[in-house]
Amino acid sequence: MQKVSIICNCSQVTLGEMHEAINAGAIRLEDIQKLTAVAMGCGRCSTQVKQILSKRSS
Ligand code: FES
Repeated sequence: MQKVSIICNCSQVTLGEMHEAINAGAIRLEDIQKLTAVAMGCGRCSTQVKQILSKRSS
């Protein structure tokens, strides 16, 4: 079983790295892309990334 939750397979970005980027001030998809390179490959993960961002900002 995978111990680390990978959100973006293309860039190997984990959920933990996403939360670190949000803690560092990322509030939009573009911000988090600059910090982690998430959703910059096939784009399949972008919906999930947006959901994580909106959950954190609500
Ligand atoms: S899985 Fe994130 S860009 Fe492809």
